[in-house]
Formats: sequence, structure tokens, C-alpha cells
Amino acid sequence: MTRSTPNPWLARFAWVTAAATLGLICVGGLVTSRGAGLAVPDWPNTYGYNMFFFPISQWVGGIFYEHTHRLAAAGVGLLTAVLAVWVWLAEPRAWVRWLAGAAFGGVVLQGVLGGLRVTLIADELGVVHAALAQLFLVWVAALALFLSPGWPSLPPVPAAARSLRPLLLGTTVLVFGQLVLGALMRHQHAGLAIPDFPLAYGRLWPSMDAEAIARYNQLRLETTAVRPITAFQVGLQMAHRLVALGIVAGIVVSARRASRLLGRAHPVTRLARVWVGVVLVQFGLGAVTIWTEKSADLTTAHVGVGAVTLLLGALACVIACRDMLGLTRVWDAHAPPAGVAGSGALAARLTGPSA
Ligand code: HEM
Repeated sequence: MTRSTPNPWLARFAWVTAAATLGLICVGGLVTSRGAGLAVPDWPNTYGYNMFFFPISQWVGGIFYEHTHRLAAAGVGLLTAVLAVWVWLAEPRAWVRWLAGAAFGGVVLQGVLGGLRVTLIADELGVVHAALAQLFLVWVAALALFLSPGWPSLPPVPAAARSLRPLLLGTTVLVFGQLVLGALMRHQHAGLAIPDFPLAYGRLWPSMDAEAIARYNQLRLETTAVRPITAFQVGLQMAHRLVALGIVAGIVVSARRASRLLGRAHPVTRLARVWVGVVLVQFGLGAVTIWTEKSADLTTAHVGVGAVTLLLGALACVIACRDMLGLTRVWDAHAPPAGVAGSGALAARLTGPSA
């Protein structure tokens, strides 16, 4: 097996950063699920304190969740900064170094967006913040994959199986669209715009005229606590349900086709099979979110498993499109593509030991 990096610890560190990002997404989900997004009104300070010195005795109620989220975000920022510097110093492939640099830019942007969402009290920025968090996770995990010792020796997708690529890509894009729809519902506080499932107000497709919406608002438990729902929000929830069905179908077909065209042992097939299990859990969590009237923990699990659903699809796409994107090259512009074997010590440093 050929190594793409001289230091497997670097790959491990990148995977740890990706895992920490997933944890951070869950903590962020918990903040929204607990309605604690604005529990700390200032930023970058916390109630006037430097956030690292905010007294523990004051970590109470919603402040606990929001403050923990900020500290966890600072931790992921630090991990990403160390990762970027380490990759920049140790990695021979220029494109991987740029990906690591962009990851650092991404984490800074994400932090600023989170802060502005608080100081400007802008729900729309919450949606962008949620979507960027998912993309950042995919970015860091892909980076970890590129740094992994096994990356150069992953089996290619043969020409006869290329039809799998648009299917994987299309389904993954649909998952991302679904995450954005979910974020729109959450940040509009419209998660329970329809209180029943699998039916919607007792029908397969609910009426959305003004009279029906007025009737739903009379029925809704949330009406007293939260703003009344609109036809748009009912439509949003129906779109989320329909897209969920499309995603489940896309993932099941992807797994079956990968198995048939690539064989069960191919990494794309393995990922696709795990993907099927994860999306079914996610579908169930979506239903439970409705049935429990948005239990905070289960709704947060729905956010976390949603991120894993996107991640699995994205990694399967990256592996399936590896040769098409030219990502199999171990050499970059600074190293000669020809005569690799003859370039002695440099070649040995870049490719590492062969097994
Ligand atoms: C199977 C694919 C699905 C995926 C990938 C998915 C993903 C997500 C994500 C990521 C969020 C939160 C977005 C955020 O705040 O950042 C969300 C919200 C939500 N999802 Fe899904 N979902 C799926 C299926 C379902 C199903 C079948 C239902 C059942 C009706 C459902 C009900 C909900 C509800 C009610 C919310 C809003 C929760 C709230 O307001 O706090 N989801 N979804």
C-alpha cells in the first residue's frame, strides 16, 4: 500500500477534528432545540466577560447550552488552526494544503456568522450558520480522507459503473437541500407546523387556503406560545416530508446499484450500505420529532444524524469521483510527475513505506 502522507498521525488528527465538528453540530442543535440561541446576548464576550473566564456558577439554564456551544466552537477553531498549520508544513500535495487553508477560513467565517446571528438577532443568519456547519464537516472529513494512508490505494470505479456517480451526487445534493429545509423550519420555529405524521392534519396533503390555516392555528398547541403558522410553513414541512421519501429511495437504489456494479467489498458499496441504515434511523427520528412534539434530545439527534447522512453521501461521492477529479495524484506542481521512482529521498519522503 502506498502512503500519501509521511505522517499517519496527521490523518488521525484530521479525523479527530472532523469528529469534534460533528459533536459541535450536535451541541449547536441542542442550543436551538432548547430555544437557547439568544440566551447570551453579547458576542464575542459572554455577559461582558471574556468567554474563557465566564464564572461557572453562572452557567445556568439556556446560558449553559449557548456558552458550552461557544467554548466547543473555540475548541474546533483551535483544532482546525493546528490542522491547517500542520498540513501546510508536512503535506507535499499543494491542493491538499489549500484545502486545509480554506478549512481554517471556513471555521473563522462560521464563528463570525454565529456571532452576527446573536448580535443582529437575525434568524436568517441562523439558517446560513446551520448549512455552513454541515459543509464544514464534509470539508474536514474529506481532508482527513485525502490525508489517510489508504487514500492512494482505494480501488477505482470501473467504466461500466460510472452511472453510479450521478446517482450518488444527486442523492447527496438532495440530502443537503433537506438539511437546508430542516434549518429553515427550525429557525422559523415551524417544526410543528403540521402536528401529525404520516398524515398531515388527517389527510395525505393538507389544505393550505386561508380558511384552513386559520382552523389549524385554532387547533395548534403551539399557538399560545409561538407565532401562528402560515401556509408557507405548512408547505415547507410537506416539502421536507416529500424530499425525505426521495432521499430514502435514492439511497436504497444507490446501495443496490453499488453492490451490483462494484461488488460488496468496494468502499463505495460499504459506505452506501451504512448510508441505508443511517437514513432509516434519520427517517424514524423525523417521525419521533413530530410525535414527541419536538423533544429537545430527539430533535437534536435528528440534526446530528442528518449531518452523518450528508457526510456518508459526500465521502461516497469523493471516492467514486476520485479518478475523474484527478485526486489520485500523490505529486503536485512542486514535485516532478515523471521519474518518481528515480527521485530518491524526496520520493521516499512523499510516498512513505510501501507494504
Ligand atoms: C430522511 C431524511 C431527513 C433528513 C436528512 C432530515 C434532516 C433534518 C435536519 C438536518 C433538520 C434540522 C436542521 C437544522 O436545524 O440545522 C431537520 C429538521 C426537522 N425534520 Fe427532518 N430530516 C429528514 C426526514 C424527516 C422526516 C421524515 C420528518 C417527519 C416529518 C422530519 C421532521 C423534521 C422536523 C419536524 C424538523 C424541525 C425540528 C425543529 O423545528 O426543531 N424530518 N431535518
